[in-house]
Amino acid sequence: MTGYREYHRRSVEQPQEFWAEKAALIDWHRPFEQVLDASRKPFAAWFRGGLTNLCHNAVDRHLPERAQQAALVWESTEVERSRSYSYAELHREVQRMAAILQRHGVQQGDRVLIYMPMIPEAVFGMLACARIGAIHSVVFGGFAAVSLATRIDDAAPKLILSSDAGSRAGRVVPYKPLLDEAIARAAHKPEKVLMVDRGLHAFEPVAGRDLDHAAESAAVGDSQVPCVWVDSTHPSYILYTSGTTGRPKGVQRDTGGYAVALATSMRDIFCGRPGGTYFCSSDIGWVVGHSYIVYGPLIHGMTTVLYEGTPVRPDAGILWRLAERHRAQVMFSSPTAVRVLKKFDASFMRDRDLSSLERLFLAGEPLDEPTASWISEMLGKPVVDNYWQTETGWPILSIAAGVEALPPKAGSPGVAMPGYRVSVLDELSGEPVPAGHKGVLAIDWPLPPGCMQTVWGDDQRFIDTYWSNFASRQAYSTFDWGVADEQGYVTILGRTDDVINVAGHRLGTREIEESISSHPAVAEVAVVGAADEVKGQQAMAFVVARDASRTADAQAREDLQREIMQTVQTQLGAVARPARVLFVSMLPKTRSGKLLRRSIQALCEQRPTGDLTTLEDPAALDQIRKALADQA
Ligand code: PRX
Repeated sequence: MTGYREYHRRSVEQPQEFWAEKAALIDWHRPFEQVLDASRKPFAAWFRGGLTNLCHNAVDRHLPERAQQAALVWESTEVERSRSYSYAELHREVQRMAAILQRHGVQQGDRVLIYMPMIPEAVFGMLACARIGAIHSVVFGGFAAVSLATRIDDAAPKLILSSDAGSRAGRVVPYKPLLDEAIARAAHKPEKVLMVDRGLHAFEPVAGRDLDHAAESAAVGDSQVPCVWVDSTHPSYILYTSGTTGRPKGVQRDTGGYAVALATSMRDIFCGRPGGTYFCSSDIGWVVGHSYIVYGPLIHGMTTVLYEGTPVRPDAGILWRLAERHRAQVMFSSPTAVRVLKKFDASFMRDRDLSSLERLFLAGEPLDEPTASWISEMLGKPVVDNYWQTETGWPILSIAAGVEALPPKAGSPGVAMPGYRVSVLDELSGEPVPAGHKGVLAIDWPLPPGCMQTVWGDDQRFIDTYWSNFASRQAYSTFDWGVADEQGYVTILGRTDDVINVAGHRLGTREIEESISSHPAVAEVAVVGAADEVKGQQAMAFVVARDASRTADAQAREDLQREIMQTVQTQLGAVARPARVLFVSMLPKTRSGKLLRRSIQALCEQRPTGDLTTLEDPAALDQIRKALADQA
């Protein structure tokens, strides 16, 4: 194991040398003066003084060699269209989008919120921001008005790029009404809204505010917009993610460190070949889409596939047909997508020529062994688990097959990736626990390049949230339980906080609770994640109604249930809607009034509730039991 061991040892013991070498994988307009600025721990500033640009590294840099190579391939099974853009065409489109942004006053450091379906203009928008030093904040299209409004207020975008509608499983999902409602709710008002009209859902533009993308595009023509060289530490984007509180955190990413980390991961982890095709079926609204649909593959000179559609439409063979059509070398998906496919007849995967495919990467949630071996056997290819977070931007744990193809270990995403000083710590003291013992997975300072710089606009929250969880040690908490073996393989055992993971989508139970509480009939609510065979987890809501008559009979309960689900759907989005809403007349709490979410979760999963000495009233747990039994 010397290859990997030595590689990782060097990355953490001599980070300056290690990352200085890796920095050569990207272009610098001006070399950096310092690899790591350690003057403001726990912050870490990578490649300070260096001038670079993400868009240059993703697009322009490849023009001499790859102008005619496909850069972006768009496939939509929703609107039955596909389109390919060469690097030269991508360069043109991105400049056009950048020219539109500039024409409407967007400058370096300004925020641009992108609320878009999976269409090429979303990618042009991201790259155009990077090109001119504007900071993008992509909001997942599955989020609704309240989620969107919170993010508009936090990021305070000068301009919003959006579209009339997306489409999900053949059904048009209008975006514009949600966007208008979100802007009406938000205290911050964007000056302009740039609308890509797909002709899916008619809308009335707001005079003086809404711009038509097609008209703007025609007006700017084939403009040339040079890349703005920004400091390596200049923020490239903000991406919101859920945590313990109801208020999502804006994960802020830098420019140079991110580019270097992605370039490193493309070679050492994903083993991508420049000129090859990378097909990641995630969404640009999530971190996986940022890193491995847009920036990673393009920085590495690959062709990236942007897929608008589900894994089962028109049939469960679609992902593999696309992989075949585009000769995918690397694929990236989620365990849930594979579990969904598993329910279909295996014939959909046969008779596909997947000879180009080398590996399938899966991430975002725990990968169970049966799912991993099923898909690996079906494909006849290695399946590689990888564990990371919005905060880190690229894998913390995996197998770096580009360095040494260590054998995978069932149930574990793998070993520490370069630069990550991973340890498993006692939850309170912060002392490392021995191999084989459960603790909190933590990362010692410094987080490697590419990881979050801070919480947007709130340095203190970055310190308080991530670096202040252990008494004896200032380490970054992943908020995941883990257990390491003697060889350094870590197994992830779920979150330590109130974050749940539904089909690989990270959701905060507090946000869902706040939304449910806004329903006038709700007195109290607890939301927990309960194990689900396909989606990993599902959200279960236990509600105490203000007025007993609202839950008096089956019809009344059903009506209220529907209203509550609808409330969450219209406020936060369908992605956050609980799978079940059950009624109780009290919730289990400690004597000091703290909700015992873990006990509720245990009951949902038919596990023992553990220590209940602090429980205020045992009858509350009986109510949960009864509610569960009644719905079964
Ligand atoms: O709990 C871990 C789980 O997803 C969380 C991060 O979610 P998100 O910020 O959306 O980033 C996803 C990036 C892939 C983690 O804290 N998680 C992610 N990957 C895995 C995982 N749990 C187990 N195994 C994984 N491979």
